[in-house]
Amino acid sequence: MAKAEQQSVEDFKGQARLPRFANPKRYVISLRVDLARCAFSGSSTIAVAVVSSTRFLVLNAADLAVDPASVRFTTPGSSEELKPSEVVAVEEDEILVVGFDTTLPIGDGELRIGFTGTLNDQMRGFYRSKYEYNGEIRNMAVTQFEAVDARRCFPCWDEPAFKATFKITLEVPSELVALSNMPVAEEKVNGVVKTLSFEESPIMSTYLVAIVVGLFDYIEDKLPDGTKVRVYCQVGKSSQGKFALDVAVKSLQLYENYFAVPYPLPKLDMVAIPDFAAGAMENYGLVTYRETALLYDDRLSSASNKQSVAITVAHELAHQWFGNLVTMEWWTHLWLNEGFASWVSYLAVDSLFPEWKIWTQFLEETAAGLMLDALSESHPIEVEINHANEIDAIFDSISYDKGASVIRMLQSYLGAESFQQALASYIKKYTYSNAKTEDLWAVLEEKSREPVKDLMNSWTKQQGYPVIYANLKKHELELEQAQFLSDGSSGTGMWIIPVTLCCGSYNPQEKFLLKSKYHKLDIKELVSSHDPNNENGERFWIKLNVDQTGFYRVKYDDELAAGIRYAVQANKLSLMDKIGVVEDSYALSVACKQTLSSLLFLLSAYGEEFDYTVLSHVIVISCKIADVVMDATPELANDIKLFLINLLLSAAKKLGWDPKDGENHLDVMLRSDLLVALVRLGHEETINEAVKRFNIFLNDRNTPLLPPDNRKAAYLGVMQTVSTSNKSGFESLLRIYTETDQSQERVRVLGSLASCPDKEIVLEALNFLLTRKVRNQDAIYGLGISRQGRETAWVWLKENWDYISKTWAASSLISRFVSAIVSPFNSSEKAVEVEEFFASRVKPSFERALKQSLERVRINAKWVESIRGEQSLADAVKELVHKT
Ligand code: BES
Ligand code: ZN
Repeated sequence: MAKAEQQSVEDFKGQARLPRFANPKRYVISLRVDLARCAFSGSSTIAVAVVSSTRFLVLNAADLAVDPASVRFTTPGSSEELKPSEVVAVEEDEILVVGFDTTLPIGDGELRIGFTGTLNDQMRGFYRSKYEYNGEIRNMAVTQFEAVDARRCFPCWDEPAFKATFKITLEVPSELVALSNMPVAEEKVNGVVKTLSFEESPIMSTYLVAIVVGLFDYIEDKLPDGTKVRVYCQVGKSSQGKFALDVAVKSLQLYENYFAVPYPLPKLDMVAIPDFAAGAMENYGLVTYRETALLYDDRLSSASNKQSVAITVAHELAHQWFGNLVTMEWWTHLWLNEGFASWVSYLAVDSLFPEWKIWTQFLEETAAGLMLDALSESHPIEVEINHANEIDAIFDSISYDKGASVIRMLQSYLGAESFQQALASYIKKYTYSNAKTEDLWAVLEEKSREPVKDLMNSWTKQQGYPVIYANLKKHELELEQAQFLSDGSSGTGMWIIPVTLCCGSYNPQEKFLLKSKYHKLDIKELVSSHDPNNENGERFWIKLNVDQTGFYRVKYDDELAAGIRYAVQANKLSLMDKIGVVEDSYALSVACKQTLSSLLFLLSAYGEEFDYTVLSHVIVISCKIADVVMDATPELANDIKLFLINLLLSAAKKLGWDPKDGENHLDVMLRSDLLVALVRLGHEETINEAVKRFNIFLNDRNTPLLPPDNRKAAYLGVMQTVSTSNKSGFESLLRIYTETDQSQERVRVLGSLASCPDKEIVLEALNFLLTRKVRNQDAIYGLGISRQGRETAWVWLKENWDYISKTWAASSLISRFVSAIVSPFNSSEKAVEVEEFFASRVKPSFERALKQSLERVRINAKWVESIRGEQSLADAVKELVHKT
């Protein structure tokens, strides 16, 4: 566009980003909230700097009724107010175009806008949540602005790089608590309403602005410098906030140290919100959470609940620096926010709870990232965004898990200390500003003098990751890299891979950057320090990717694989390496690069394993194998399940059902996972015991025989025995669901209901999710559907699609419905059927999830075929069962 004068409203349509001829500097926002009518009205006075010649101001607004007559523009020097000649809301682009007759003067000005809106029920923008107080249902008003929903509360330049200060004033009922990012500066009570004006914030992005209005209790603690930290929750529940408060205070101090910048705001509030789409949201100084992610009750929460609270709090508080103080320049760099907050949260939790071995547990995140990124329908970490409606979909395992994993890889390559120093200078350099991925690399490169940019570009700009094929030829190790894809094909990607390896022991190790496709390595020296024909009968082994710090897989030749299996069985490997070995083997098997028999044979080496961190992976893999063989080779399924049960049984027997006094956290989690797995694998003894203990629990909710950690297993066990002719267990669970006011307990119950083998019960369970008894935020937990219920669930999804898409589309939870119900299928006919159904229904909010799910279905189908064609499987299974 050559001249501003030639522009019209049309020119601003269909653009990914706002035009840059004016920047907001300061927002003065007043909102009057009417909770009874679920409505609000407000005004926004925005100080803007006009930086280039324009007749238009273009900003974001959506679902707001802007009063055109209220819109004014003034400039400091002149007493004259400019009235716009047009005020056009372009709905599909969520923009508000304010046009004037004359060109605006370059320099400062002030834009004033009056508007009204409704508190929606979609858990985004400015919305209402419901809670019970003294037996009465009440409304609260809450904001959730990330990624692009601040525009649903007030007109604004709703992009992360348009940072400005915010001065917020709220008019609310006098008896309620009203919170925002900053502390209250002034409060005026006028009968039944009060006006609260909050202090002006430092400059920040719109997606981090927050408001909460409702009835709450709180508990408080302070940082050494006096900064108040509070947890707000439902009246009467404040003791459940203690654990999170403690984690918050400690992790804030840890981050102040780590980033070498003090927490920048005068207070930090954390609030439990009864209806909440995400898990938690890092709003500056006012972090909001699902109840399950913030509250911890000694008597009612499980060890795994405790861990999630710690991780979530540590994650959101990490954002106060990484994200809030230094913000991504655009959503393409979302991973800078999410990947880093995830990675740093493990650092904090490791320091607070070293006995949790949280860095070993981190490999679950890496596993999730590797799993998703092995799809052709994955995306690069740095992803192009062409429209605002594409942003929600990238809050996925790539941004979070792959993002965090490649950071771990880089840290391990550069060394912890130099990495921290570089991060601290990055934070300092970009404080109150925005940064792109390459800005971070530049700082790291300067500090470390390593080729960080080239190395990392290969991981963040291209999708996927490599598998390294390792072949031993005498004293030479031949390495070849190729892109790993779960469908068995090889992509064309090439990476700069920080390779590490060790032979026969962890000391010494070999480290280098693999930059080419092929590489030969003379390992004579490494080997000679280890006599291959050791008289103790020790075997020679080589492990690549030591402690799984690299984001890649390894496929060993037969001889090396035998060595690795030996090393697992003889307990020569670190926990992380034991996890890596079985994860890679599983993924290679799914991709048909390795037989199921060889995976089962490897698994048999884990029979003496007692560590939670390792067994949790073995368990997930075992359950997936059990599922696939039911379809692939039903005649072998029982034997394979028997083998898997035996594999887990020695650990399960050792732990039993009853917790021991003073038992460690990881054993508690292990017991819980083992019992769940044994139920899933159909172990009758465990199912019977589950039912027995459940019945005792029904009569005495405080019985020590069924602590919260074991309830998931008990509920799943009960659902295994439920059928249309014997529904009492199902009905009891529904009763527990409606009676409890503890959200973690509700999640456990929901997670069990549809696991029933009886299809009619599955249907009842799914229909229950659509009733008013289940909050919209929680329905996703009910999608753990039995294999037998797969088809029923698909028919249910189709029949209820209009309602489901209407109810869950805006919060983007809709993608969870699609992937939970579609991805378990394993035939190409089904993939076609699903495609046909969605052809006319697909929307950007779940398009990616749908494509990924369909790809999974096709991968499953291939895997099933390959298992069917595996000639020696029956013999291998017979032998394995015989041995155990
Ligand atoms: N910034 C996100 C919340 C979010 C997610 C906003 C998706 C908009 C769309 C927050 O920091 C976050 O990552 N929350 C996680 C929890 C965390 C422990 C990984 C979540 O909500 O699951
Ligand atoms: Zn986050």
